Amino acid sequence: MGSIGKPIDRVDGHLKVTGHATYAAEFTVPDLVHAVLVQSTIAAGRITGFDLAEAKSMPGVLLIITPDNALRLTQAKGVQQAVKAPLLQDRDILFNGQHVAVVVADTLDRALAAAARVRVRYQRDEAVTDMDAMLDQAYVPKSFRNGARPADSRRGDPEAAHDAAFAKLDVTYITPIEHHNPMEPHATIARWQGDKLTVWTSTQGISGAQTTLAGHFGLDPSQVRVICPFVGGGFGCKGNTWPPVTLAAMAAKMTGRPVKLVLTRAQMFTSNGYRPRTVQKLRASAETDGSLQSLRHDGFSLMSQPNLGEFCEPVALSTEFLYACPNVAVSHRLVATNMPLPTYMRAPGEASGMFALESAIDELAAQVRMDPLAFRMRNYAENDAHEGKPYASKALMACYTQGAQAFGWKARGAAPRSMREGNVLIGWGMATATYPTNRQKATVRVRIAADGSVLVQSGTQDLGTGTYTVMSQVAADTLGIPVSRVRFELGDSALPHAPVSGGSSTVPSVAPAVAAACEAAAGKLRDLARSDPHLGWGDLDASALQVREGAVIGPDRRIAIAALLARRGQSFVDATSESGPGDEKKRFSLHAFGSHFVEVRVDADLGEIRVARYVGAFDVGQPLNAKTLRSQLIGGITYGIGMALLEETHVDGETGRIVNANIAEYVVPVHADIPAIETIVVENAESRSNPLGVKGAGELPMVGVAAAIANAVYHATGMRVRKLPIRIEDVLGSA
Ligand code: MOS
Repeated sequence: MGSIGKPIDRVDGHLKVTGHATYAAEFTVPDLVHAVLVQSTIAAGRITGFDLAEAKSMPGVLLIITPDNALRLTQAKGVQQAVKAPLLQDRDILFNGQHVAVVVADTLDRALAAAARVRVRYQRDEAVTDMDAMLDQAYVPKSFRNGARPADSRRGDPEAAHDAAFAKLDVTYITPIEHHNPMEPHATIARWQGDKLTVWTSTQGISGAQTTLAGHFGLDPSQVRVICPFVGGGFGCKGNTWPPVTLAAMAAKMTGRPVKLVLTRAQMFTSNGYRPRTVQKLRASAETDGSLQSLRHDGFSLMSQPNLGEFCEPVALSTEFLYACPNVAVSHRLVATNMPLPTYMRAPGEASGMFALESAIDELAAQVRMDPLAFRMRNYAENDAHEGKPYASKALMACYTQGAQAFGWKARGAAPRSMREGNVLIGWGMATATYPTNRQKATVRVRIAADGSVLVQSGTQDLGTGTYTVMSQVAADTLGIPVSRVRFELGDSALPHAPVSGGSSTVPSVAPAVAAACEAAAGKLRDLARSDPHLGWGDLDASALQVREGAVIGPDRRIAIAALLARRGQSFVDATSESGPGDEKKRFSLHAFGSHFVEVRVDADLGEIRVARYVGAFDVGQPLNAKTLRSQLIGGITYGIGMALLEETHVDGETGRIVNANIAEYVVPVHADIPAIETIVVENAESRSNPLGVKGAGELPMVGVAAAIANAVYHATGMRVRKLPIRIEDVLGSA
C-alpha cells in the first residue's frame, strides 16, 4: 500500500482552504496589544533626538520604545544577528528603513496613528549605495559559508589556459537586489509569563528563534517556546530571527502585555534581508572541439555595513564542480553599503551564480559553433573535480536527454534569429540546474497508540512546501498503514529538535529521522510480542515479525496492536530517534541536478518578451510525493521566470531608500506570464546521500532558469543580455 512517490493530497490542504490553518498573527491571546515599527528616513548618520510629545498624547498609546529607553540586550551564543542598530541599542543609522522606534498601543489603528507622529531628528552622513562604483574597495568575507570553506579556490592555471585557448570570453554579468515577498508577512505575537517567553512567529527555524531570543534576553532556551504551525512562504527571509521578533518580545516585556507585531508589506523590504546585487566577472575559454579549458568566476556581492552581520551570495560554487574543466578559479568579495543586511533567498548563490555561468557556457558554445546542449554534454563531469570525489548520485545526463526529447530540442535552428514567425522572433534556450543536497541532524518522536493510529512529532517547519504531508507518508509506509492513520505535528520548539528549514534540507534531514523513529517504535512492538507468553514467539528473531496494518504479524498469525498493548496494560508505545549525516559527505559529492528548456517569443518591434513553452527535467533522488514535488518544481521555475524578466528592487542613490517597496511596483510573475510548464522527474533511486535516497527540491528548480531564458533571448534576437532582469529596452531594435 506504499504511499511514497504517489501524488497524494496535502494532509493540511483542507485546513488551509477552509481558513482553519492558524498563522502567527492569527492566534488568540488575551489582553493583546499592538506594536508598530518606526523606520529611519536616512541611510547613514545618527539620531540626534526624538520629539515624542505628540505621539505619546495620542489615544491608546502605552509605550514608545527608542534607543533611549530600550531594554539592553545581551549577545549570547546562538544569536544570529548582530545586536547593534536595528534592535534600538544605539543611535547610529546604517541604512534607510532601519527601526528607530516601536510604538505600542491598545489597537493597531492607534499604534499606526501614533507611529506616524514620532518625530526623529538626524545628523545625516553621506550614504553609500552604488556598489558597482566601489568594486575596488571590495573585501574578503570574514566568515564565508560560516567559515566552512575559504572564499576563494583554484585548481590548474586558468590564466595560462585562457591565453592559449581558441575561444575566449571575458565578460561581466549583473543580478539585481531581489526581495522574497512571501504571501504572509513576518508576524510575531510575544507573551511573557514571569521569566518564560512564548512567541508565535512566522519562521523557517523555530529552534533558531528560540536560541536567539534566549540569547537576547539572557534566558535558558528552555525558558523560550516558539510556536509556528504554518508558514505562508519563506524563501529564505524567515530563516534568520530578524529584529522585529526580538522587538516584539521587548515590547511585551516592557508593557507587561502580550504584543503583536506584524510587518507591513513595505517593511518586508527592509526588515528581513534580500538577495544582494551581484557583479560577476567571468573569464572562460574552450578549444575548437568544444572542450572547456578554463573558468574564472569572480563574484562581488552587495553587503550592508559590516557591523550588522555578514552575508555573501556564494555565486561561484557551482562553477567549481559542474563541468569537467582542468583550470578553475573562483573568488567571492563583499562591497559594504548603507543597505540593510542581505540574506539567503531561494537558491542563494546558485540562482544568481548560475545565471552567469550558464550564460557564459552558452556564449562559449556559440563561439565554437556547437549546439549548447552538445557543448554541455561534451564537458560533462562524471566526478566532482573540485572535491575530488564521485557524486553520491548524478542523473544529469538523463535530465538533459529527457528534457531535450520532451521539448523537441533537436529541431532548433542553429543560428540566432533563425526561427522567426512573421513579426515574432522565436528563441530556444537551455541551461543546467544544480543544488547541494544538505542534511542536518533531526530528532523525531513516534507514538503508536492501541488503536493503531500514529502520532509523529518533530520541531520542523512546513513553509507551504508539504512537510506535513510527506513526513506523514514516510511514517505511514514505514509502519505499513494508510496516511490517514498518521498525525504529524511540527512547528513547536517543545517538540524534539529539528533543523532550520533552509537549504532544501528538510526532506533529507527529517524524513530519515521519521523512518528511524517509526522503525524504533515498531521494534518495541516486536519486542513486546516476542516477550508475550501467549504468542509463543519467544524464540523468533525480531526480523521474523512485521509491524503493519495495525498488527504485529508473525509466521503463523497476527495480533492486533490493541490486543498486544491491552495484555501489557499499555496504551501506547513510543520511541525517539535522531538521524543525521553519516560519512557520506566524506565519500561523495552531494547534489541534485536538472535541466531547463525554454521557448521565448520576442515581438521584434515592441521588444516584449514572453515565455511561451517550458520543460524542466530534474534529478531529485527518490520523490516522496509527485504532487507536492511538482508544485515545488513549477514554483521554482516561476520564481526563476520572475528573476529573468521582472524582479528588481530599485534603490534611490541619494537617500538609499527602496522606491518600489510594494508588490505593485516590485513586479512578480502573474498567471499570464507563466506558460504551461512540463516537469519531468528522472529516475534515480540510487542516491547514497541519505538512507531514503531523497534530495531536497525547493531551490533546485529555480537554478538556471534565468540563464535558460537569457540564452533563449539571445537565440531569438542575437542580443546577449548580461544583466537581470532582461527588459524590453535590452532587446529593442532587434527587428
Ligand atoms: Mo532557503 S534561501 O535556504 O530558505
